[in-house]
Amino acid sequence: MEQELQIEGLEGEANAAETAAVTAAEAAEVIVQRFTMAVEYPVAFTSRMFDHGNTTLVDLIGRHEPEKRHRLFVVLDGGVAAARPELVQQLSSYVAFYGDRLELLAVDPVPGGEAIKNQAGAVEGLLQRMLDLAVDRHSYVVAIGGGAVLDLVGYAAAICHRGVRMLRVPTTVLAQNDSGVGVKNGANAFGVKNFVGTFAPPFAVLNDSDFIATLQRRDKIAGMAEAVKVALIRDGAFFNWLEANAPALARFEGGVMRHMIRRCAELHLQHIASGGDPFERGSARPLDYGHWSAHKLEGLSHHDLRHGEAVAIGMAMDARYAVLAGILPAPEGERICGLLEGLGFSLWHDSLDMLAVDGRPAVIDGLREFQEHLGGELTITLIEAIGRGFEVHSINNGHMLAALDWLRDRASGGGAMEDGARRNEVSAL
Ligand SMILES: NC(=O)c1ccc[n+]([C@@H]2O[C@H](COP(=O)([O-])OP(=O)(O)OC[C@H]3O[C@@H](n4cnc5c(N)ncnc54)[C@H](O)[C@@H]3O)[C@@H](O)[C@H]2O)c1
Ligand SMILES: [Zn+2]
Repeated sequence: MEQELQIEGLEGEANAAETAAVTAAEAAEVIVQRFTMAVEYPVAFTSRMFDHGNTTLVDLIGRHEPEKRHRLFVVLDGGVAAARPELVQQLSSYVAFYGDRLELLAVDPVPGGEAIKNQAGAVEGLLQRMLDLAVDRHSYVVAIGGGAVLDLVGYAAAICHRGVRMLRVPTTVLAQNDSGVGVKNGANAFGVKNFVGTFAPPFAVLNDSDFIATLQRRDKIAGMAEAVKVALIRDGAFFNWLEANAPALARFEGGVMRHMIRRCAELHLQHIASGGDPFERGSARPLDYGHWSAHKLEGLSHHDLRHGEAVAIGMAMDARYAVLAGILPAPEGERICGLLEGLGFSLWHDSLDMLAVDGRPAVIDGLREFQEHLGGELTITLIEAIGRGFEVHSINNGHMLAALDWLRDRASGGGAMEDGARRNEVSAL
């Protein structure tokens, strides 16, 4: 085996002697381990998933081993359980109908929403249940719920026995068109969002459009932010479609909602598969357009803002920033804000006015925190044209503060302020 020895950081005479003592014959032998694993998981779109005639669930579970009887541990979002009281009965009846292929170990309801990701002991509680139920790597954890429940249950499943098969049934717009179809999970810890988590592709994803009907109005709207986002960075034609169908989307009409969710999910899947960085090892995060401020705003608002609501504000702010920085033509910036408002988003929240100890708007700290979470060079995706993302590595503070002023003014019904009305070229970030 041919080896090349490199010793770094050895300085001075004593170390020079040591270096000399390491002859080529004594050099470490390095075996480079290399293998690749193809990742493949189906994302199904259906409705009435627990009707006996609908074989999507049983077929997805048994797709590799159709002859086997598969064990399911179901974790159910409490918000879904409350909105669909008949669901547990329908699920039990479905499993009983396919009793030769499925076995139901338990259905555990858990609190829905961000509370579950913040709850101390939630992961341990799930792991204890998996231990008690003898869930193993050939069993299936089925999580039915919003993005928060899917994230938390996915994390518990990923660390149990170093990875138990996970079937996701996303029940919100955001989870069906974005978070639920991807490869990440996580929980909040030490006051930091998604501080723990893994990259773990699911065994399968099953999107049932019926779940959308029972969502609160704000949750139906919130998830559409991710569709606008992915259209902006990847697909101008989809953006045009969203614009043309904004009134129908704002009325949550079934057909357009299904198309919006499906196309958005498809674009996210395409990006993960062919973006070159499925497990986000690099510094670039194109899918996180508008997210550096959104993550910060979610925290500043103590989760009064839903993820999608915060993303809408973040996208509007970054669109205006791009206009001020001369990256995006002003009419395109207006189209972006106009579409978001047309879908029902508010582009302002009072948490944008919260100040950090140094007197600057606290939201601006989101840039540093975003970089810390990812590591590496600050990389922010902006939009240079509708459908085309553009990466920058520094942000002009004055322009960003001016963008914030512009949003405040727009929300209060005033005309857009002159660019840089409060331009304040304090220390560049
Ligand atoms: N893993 C990822 O890649 C990824 C990506 C984006 C967002 N996320 C995470 O997703 C979470 C947000 O998810 P979300 O927007 O789906 O909201 P959510 O999970 O917070 O759910 C919002 C509310 O809706 C309820 N609910 C869920 N489905 C329902 C239904 N069908 N009918 C009635 N009520 C229902 C829930 O109980 C909850 O109260 C955040 O924690 C965010 O960090 C993860
Ligand atoms: Zn998002």
